[in-house]
Parts: sequence; C-alpha cells; structure tokens
Amino acid sequence: MNGRIAVVTGGTGTIGTEICKHLAASGCRVVALCLPGMPDCRLDDWEAARKSEGYTMHALGCNVADFDDTEKTFKKIENEIGPVSVLVNAAGITRDAALRKMSFEQWRAVLSANLDSVFNTTRCVIEGMMDRGFGRIVNISSVNGQKGQFGQANYAASKAGMHGFTMSVAREGARKGVTCNTVSPGYIESPMIMAVPEEHRAKIVAEIPVGRFGKPAEIARLVAFLAAEESAFITGADVSINGGQHMG
Ligand code: CAA
Ligand code: NAP
Repeated sequence: MNGRIAVVTGGTGTIGTEICKHLAASGCRVVALCLPGMPDCRLDDWEAARKSEGYTMHALGCNVADFDDTEKTFKKIENEIGPVSVLVNAAGITRDAALRKMSFEQWRAVLSANLDSVFNTTRCVIEGMMDRGFGRIVNISSVNGQKGQFGQANYAASKAGMHGFTMSVAREGARKGVTCNTVSPGYIESPMIMAVPEEHRAKIVAEIPVGRFGKPAEIARLVAFLAAEESAFITGADVSINGGQHMG
C-alpha cells in the first residue's frame, strides 16, 4: 500500500489491534483511534507494545461518537501525518438487554458509538478521498446485524444500519475510486463475548458449524484484503465471516 495512511477506529481494541497490524504489514502507515480515558487507550503503552512487535504506529484519543472531536482529530491527522486513504470503522460497544428492560440510555449509547461514529468519521474523509481518486472504507458490522439477536435490539439496529450506510457511500464513491464495504464477523474470541453469560456462550458456540469462535486475526486478514489497491471492484458488499453460523 506504499505508505498510504490508514485510520482504524477502535484501533487499540481486540479486533482493531489485529487490523492495525495487518494494514501495517501491507504497507500502510497506521493511526489507531481509541476512546480517551478507557483502559485500552494508554497511547504510549499501545505504541510501545506495537514497536516491540516490529510495527511503528500512531495512536490518538478521539471520541468518534462526538462529531466535533472527530472532526478535530481528522484535521490533526491530515495536518500532521497526511491525507487518509483507508478508514476502518471498528469502534463499537454492546449494552445488551431484552427490549422490555432496555433503557433509552442503552439504546442511545449503542447507536452513538456504533452508527453515529461511522457517519462522523466517513464525513471527515470522504471529500478528500473522492478528490484524490482513491479511498477504501471498511465498516465492521456483525452477524447479529444480519440475523438479529435476543437482547441486542440496539446493537443489531446499529450494525444493520451500518450496511445501509455502506451501500449508499459505495454508490457515491464508485466513479471516484472510493470503495466502501461491510465486514460482518460472527463471534470472535474477545472480552466482548466473554461478557456474555457462560450459559448463553455455550449455546452460541453450539450454533457455529466450524465449532469454535473466530480469531481477531481472521477478521483482520479480510479487512486488509478489502483495503488493498487490487480490491477496487469490490464495493457495497457485506462480507460474512462467521464460521457458518449464518449463511445466505
Ligand atoms: N432466545 C430466546 N429466549 C431467550 C434467550 C434467547 N437467546 N435468552 C433468554 N431468553 C429468555 C429466557 O429463557 C427467559 O425466558 P422466561 O422469562 O420465559 O424464563 C427470558 O428470555 C429472560 O432471560 P434472561 O433471564 O437471560 O434475561 P436477562 O434479562 O437476564 O438477560 C440478556 C438478557 C442480557 C440479553 C441475556 O439473554 C444475554 O446476555 N444474551 C446473550 C446476548 C448476546 O449474545 N450478546 C452478544 C454479545 S457479543 C457481540 O455482540 C459481538 C457480536 O457482534 C457477535
Ligand atoms: P473491543 O476490544 O471492545 O474494541 C472496541 C473498541 O471500540 C475499543 O477500543 C473501544 O475503545 C472503542 N470505542 C468504543 N466506543 C468508542 C468511542 N465512542 N470512541 C472511540 N472509540 C470507541 O471490541 P472488539 O471485540 O475488538 O470489537 C471491535 C468491533 O467488532 C466492534 O465494532 C464490534 O461491534 C465488532 N464485532 C465484534 C465481535 C466480537 O465477537 N468481538 C463480533 C462481531 C463484530 P475503549 O476500549 O478505549 O473504550
């Protein structure tokens, strides 16, 4: 990717970190964004850990649910590092509850972090990508946005909404060298699924034909493939990567 700049939201998270490493291995200069004040947003520690693995990457704090903070951060990246060619939207949260128990705060928190964020970041990069004639946008959705999930009306709505956004941006960018795709992972080894009560997790793994949860690196490999220059003809797609849990 010849030094192209890639920004990964949720880039210091479990899947995000693997995505950063795969993009760096493909030749991108990588900037990871994380939510200031959270445990995995210790910028120096994260950068040092990547350095010890042989990668040089930047990490910046940015609340991507907040448009002003996002705009300020992307201006800083453009001014201090350079124009963004690849955007991966991997920031996301869950606030699971059956709908009859779900509060408006749980609904709003998930829609803001998972879906408003995708508008905020993409709005900041789309014009530059179209003007320069090259862009790759990859939005990390979920199998639960495709099929629904008990206790996730908020999360499933945010992730399904993400793909409507993807298809529209794909149409807008198609003649300008900008692709936009969705990646829909199934259940991946991560703290996010460890937060699901053991009895539910056991039922979920039993539904996965491959017989195990996925690995963050398996998602990252697909994201790097979609971000490659050679993937110019793939746009508006929703690529499932779920061990066969949901097909069709
Ligand atoms: N399907 C159908 N019914 C279910 C159910 C399910 N999956 N889960 C629970 N129920 C039923 C229960 O049997 C129970 O029925 P009765 O009232 O008739 O006894 C009722 O719903 C209440 O069940 P709970 O006591 O479990 O409800 P709760 O309010 O304590 O918990 C919950 C609800 C927090 C949503 C819990 O069900 C849960 O954690 N489910 C798993 C949610 C999940 O898979 N989240 C994925 C997180 S990982 C992720 O999101 C990453 C990704 O993208 C894949
Ligand atoms: P994770 O480790 O919790 O990573 C999520 C990242 O998003 C964290 O780094 C978090 O930052 C960041 N984030 C959340 N809200 C933010 C905000 N407002 N501003 C900036 N950053 C924010 O979770 P993960 O398992 O790697 O998940 C990554 C993505 O994959 C999510 O979009 C998730 O929905 C999706 N996904 C996960 C699975 C799975 O099984 N794990 C399956 C399908 C899809 P802080 O930690 O600093 O708050």
